[in-house]
Formats: sequence, structure tokens, C-alpha cells
Amino acid sequence: MEGISTTSQMFLGFIAFITFLLKGALCQQWSLRTPQSIVAVGGSCLLVPCRFEIPAAYDADLKNCTPTGLWSKKVFGENIVLSSANTDDQNIIKGVMEGNLLSKNCTTLFNSFPAGYDDTYIFRLECAGTNRLKYIFYPGVHISHTDAPKNTVALSSPSGPVPDGRAVTLTCQSDANPPVERYSWYKDISGQVTWKANGQTLVLLVSKADSGLYLCEAHNEKGSQRSKAMPLEFESGQCSVMVPYIICGVMVLLYVLTVTVDVYKYKSLSRRLKQQLELSEKGDNTYTNLTIASISSDYDQLQTSRAARGEAHPGRRSERAAP
Ligand SMILES: *[C@@H]1O[C@H](CO)[C@@H](O)[C@H](O)[C@H]1NC(C)=O
Repeated sequence: MEGISTTSQMFLGFIAFITFLLKGALCQQWSLRTPQSIVAVGGSCLLVPCRFEIPAAYDADLKNCTPTGLWSKKVFGENIVLSSANTDDQNIIKGVMEGNLLSKNCTTLFNSFPAGYDDTYIFRLECAGTNRLKYIFYPGVHISHTDAPKNTVALSSPSGPVPDGRAVTLTCQSDANPPVERYSWYKDISGQVTWKANGQTLVLLVSKADSGLYLCEAHNEKGSQRSKAMPLEFESGQCSVMVPYIICGVMVLLYVLTVTVDVYKYKSLSRRLKQQLELSEKGDNTYTNLTIASISSDYDQLQTSRAARGEAHPGRRSERAAP
């Protein structure tokens, strides 16, 4: 134990030296160990476990004095609610500092912690014998009370009239300490409240039957609270509102389609006409060429054959004429 404490002291000394070098100030060891927050239940007693540390240099001061422990609200002034030096009558919140301050134990038992005193409480150490030892320990302990749910409200998203088939999320909000354990949803049908579902949110795919008044209820161990009824309106005119747009859209589409088809038709027709025109032009030429060619060739052949015959006849004739 001796060795360990010596080592840790050396380590702390080293840290202190580093801090001294960096900040030019000695490392402070003032510290308080308490829970960050405590929830008081109703008017029952409240135990605040507490220990504090002071720099070793002040240990002698603590030993040689009658220490006083004080609890005060965070805003420090004359907000002291309990002093270990006071009698119960003098303290705003009655209680006993059960821990021995000389052994750095500031554990305090409040007899009953009033509901209106929810706040952060700071511990202060004072020494009657000396002015040197006086310290306010930060941060403090936050003390709060359990509460039945408050400010319970039902909200709808989206808000306002909802078109058919659209999803609507109903959310229940509430302030409660301890937190809300259970949320319930109800529908108010002409004053008769009927349970719908449990859960903080309720998702509805809205149909006409879903419209009406909704309310939620938040429960915790301290109680429950219902929200005001929230209307969920069904937007029935949605279809008729959309009809002109749909018709207009369809008409525009049809027009565009007709124009496209006409343009296409015109283009293909003109292409075909052009082709036919080209074809017919080409056809005439070939026909002419062909006829010319055939005629001329025939003519040539005829001519040549005629010429051949013409040559032969005079010979025969001369042969016949010869005898
Ligand atoms: C501090 O004092 C309380 C009350 O007397 C005691 O229950 C607790 O054990 C002490 N804590 C330490 C660390 O000594």
C-alpha cells in the first residue's frame, strides 16, 4: 500500500509539474463525487451519496477545524437549503449530513425533498477554525421529482385535411418524469372514447372512416394524462379537384400523339411519293433505253438481214437469168 501510494503520489506530482509548466499554476485536486442527478419520489426522504477530495496541503486544515458542509442551489447567494451547522428549524430543507466531513464524506439524507425545489445543488465546504479552507465544489447534483405526465398533446403529420389513401402519422408528446411508459390512442366518436392502439405514434392510411377526433394518453408510474382531441379531416374533394388536371393532361398527350403520328405519316408519305417519283423516272428511262436498244438492234438486225438478202437475190436472180 505504501509503495502504491508513493508511486501514485509521484505520478500526481509529475502531472502537477507538467501542469505547472504548461499553465504556470499548481494542479488542484478539489473534487466531489456524487451522482449527476437524483430523482426524488414524492415527499419521501432523499439520500445523496457524497465524497469530496481536497489537495493534500489542506488535509491538516481539515483535521484541525470543525468543518461545515452546505448545500445550496446552483445560483449561489443566500440559496443555502441545508447547513450541517444549522438545526433542522434553521434549514430550508430538513436533513442530516450523515457522512463524516473529517473523513471527506458529505453523504446527506434529506428528510423530505419538496417538489418545488427541483434544481442543481452545489456542495460547499467551510472550516470554522480557519479561513484558508473554503471551497465550492462544481458540478453539483441535479435533484428532480417524479411527475405524472404533463403537457400531453396529440400531433398529426401532415396536418390539415388528408387525401384518401395518404399515410398520416399521429404523434403523442408529453413531459413526464420518469419518462412515459406507455402511450395510448383513442378515437372520440360523438363523445364516446374508444381505444385504438398503443404506442407513441399511430400511422393511418387514411380512408373516410378514419376521419374524426383523436386523442392520446401518456402513462408513467406517477399517473397519466390525456391530450385534447385533435381532428383528423378527410379530404374528400381530392378527386374532383384533380379531374380537370387529368383531363387536361390526357388531352395534351393525345394532341401531342396526334401531331407526332401526323408528322410521321406525312414524312413517310412524302418519302414514298419521292421514291415513286424517282422510280417512275428511272423506269421510263430504262423502258426508253430498252425499246430504243431493242428497236435499234432489231432494226439493225433487220437491216443487216435485209442487206444480206438483198445481196443474195441478185445473185440468184442472175443465176436464174443466166440459163
Ligand atoms: C459515507 O457516510 C455514509 C453515511 O454515514 C455511509 O453510509 C457511507 O458508507 C460513507 N461512505 C464512505 C465512502 O465512507
